[in-house]
Formats: sequence, structure tokens, C-alpha cells
Amino acid sequence: MIDYHEPVLLRESVEALITEPNGTYVDLTFGGGGHSRAILDRLGPKGKLISFDQDADAAARALNDPRFQLVQHNFRHTRSFLEYLKAVPVDGILADLGISSHQIDVDHRGFAHRFDGPLDMRMDQDADFSAADLVNQYSEAELARVFKQYGEMSNAKRLASEIARYRKAKNIESISDFKTAIEACTPKLHPAKFYSPLFQALRIEVNREMEALEQVLIDSEHLIREGGKFVVISYHSLEDRLVKNYFNTGNLDGKRHTNLYGWSDEPFDNERSKPIVPSEEEIARNSRARSAKMRIGIRKAWKKTN
Ligand SMILES: C[S@@+](CC[C@H](N)C(=O)[O-])C[C@H]1O[C@@H](n2cnc3c(N)ncnc32)[C@H](O)[C@@H]1O
Repeated sequence: MIDYHEPVLLRESVEALITEPNGTYVDLTFGGGGHSRAILDRLGPKGKLISFDQDADAAARALNDPRFQLVQHNFRHTRSFLEYLKAVPVDGILADLGISSHQIDVDHRGFAHRFDGPLDMRMDQDADFSAADLVNQYSEAELARVFKQYGEMSNAKRLASEIARYRKAKNIESISDFKTAIEACTPKLHPAKFYSPLFQALRIEVNREMEALEQVLIDSEHLIREGGKFVVISYHSLEDRLVKNYFNTGNLDGKRHTNLYGWSDEPFDNERSKPIVPSEEEIARNSRARSAKMRIGIRKAWKKTN
């Protein structure tokens, strides 16, 4: 539903995903259930959909449909869950990465710099590590690494040193504490443009987002049947690069590994070399779609492994 999250590239992703209407599909990122609902609408009576979300707010909106099952867990464990559910190989997997509008539109989750509230940012409310823990516990060098790596902040070292100085006197608990700690580095003009990548960096580290994506990409070759698709919508270049590398070469670093005879054995074909992006009309309707890039991997051959 639009109040929770407006799904991005909805028609394009679901059309690409479904190759067999009575097959089994996986939505790794249920969110407000927009994509899940559209998948169910296209499935036949024997079709099945297993959706994941680690956020209890999303899980509370599970769909009432006998063909649907929600797993309230991190999708980095997809392989174990699908094997446990005896669902392997599935016909296709969809991932619509990042956070939902709901997560960023409420003040108490700590994702949005336009509110004050606890500096939380945990997608899984039961996780024991928040953004406040991160800024209070990481060394100055680790903080600078997070800001540089995930926020591409040019002043990452200075930010880290301001935080280290501030927390000697007082713990950083709230968004306003955090903003005060880095006040000396914050531009007076357009501070939102400065906060956005900074908050993104904290969020990616708190939720170990890159590690979860890496894990599910590597596992996907064991999960999708031949001809089935892995459809991934990403919202920043680090994610998109991983997906592109994996679909092109079967490796996260984008290097093609060859065997003794010079052959390489990539598990996926990249359906197109360029990503699919939202239309101007979609971006005008939903500005949060503007950075979306969708890539489609087609499984070449499925081999059962132990
Ligand atoms: C962009 S939203 C998905 C929106 C959804 N496609 C819709 O139509 O409403 C991303 C969702 O994925 C969840 N999520 C992100 N990373 C996750 C992970 N590693 N494991 C489980 N859920 C995750 C977030 O909690 C969020 O609800």
C-alpha cells in the first residue's frame, strides 16, 4: 500500500521474474508487500511465494493468502530457510534492496535526518547493535572507513575525529546529539545533501547490508532452477556493482575465473548489459525511485550441491 511504501519498477520487475505461473518465487524484501502482492496476482492456484523481511513492522503486514509465507529473518540466511522448507530450486528470486518509505518516514526508527529521535537505524528491531553503538564504540579509523566506503564522504577523517572528540565528554544517543557532534563539519548551505550519504553510510554498516547482499548473491546459484531469474533492484552504486559483477562473471570482484582449459562457468547470464531504470513518469510520481537500477540474471544450469 502506498502509505507504507510505493513499489519501484513494479511492472518491469514482476514481468521479468515470473516465467512459470505455478512456480515457487521468493521476495527477499517484503517491505509494504507491493511487489509480493503483484507477484501473487500473477501466480496461478499452485504458485507459491516465500517473502523475507527482518523488520517486525513489515512482517506485521503479512498477506492473507494460502500461497504466501513470510519469513521474518535476514535474507542472508535464504539458502538455509529454502532448504529447510524444501523449496529448492525455486523459479525466481526478487530483491528490492535498501529501506522502505515507512522506515524513513517515522521518527522513532532513527533512519531519517529530518527528525530527532534515537540514533537507531536497525532494520531488525531485535538486533543488538544500533547506529548509536556504532558511533560510540567504533575507533576513529573504523568510523572514517565507514564514512568513506559507504558514504563516499570527502571529509571522512575529520568527521571521525569530531565524533571521537565529542564522545569523550558525552555519549551520542540521538540524531540531534550526532548532528551536534559533527556541527563543525556540516555545511550551512543544503545540510540535507550532506546528511543523506552520511546517514546512508551508518545504515549500511549497522545492518551489514553489503554482507547480506554478497551472501545471497553467492548462494543464489544453488537456489534458482535453470532458466529461472534473479531480479535485483538496487539504490546505490556499491550494491549495483556487486550485482553486475556477479551476474557477469559469477564473482563479486568482477574477475572471470577460468579452469585449466581456459573455460569459465558463470552461473548466470546477464539479461541485458545495461540496467533497467524507472521511467521519467515513475520518477515524477515517486522521487524515491530516482536512483533505482534493476538487473536480471538468468540461471544457466542448476546443479544440486551438498
Ligand atoms: C525497499 S524496501 C522493499 C519494498 C517492497 N518491495 C514493497 O514493494 O513494499 C526494503 C525492505 O527490505 C528489508 N530488508 C533490507 N535488507 C534486508 C535483509 N538483509 N534481510 C531482510 N530484510 C531486509 C527492509 O526491512 C525493507 O522493509
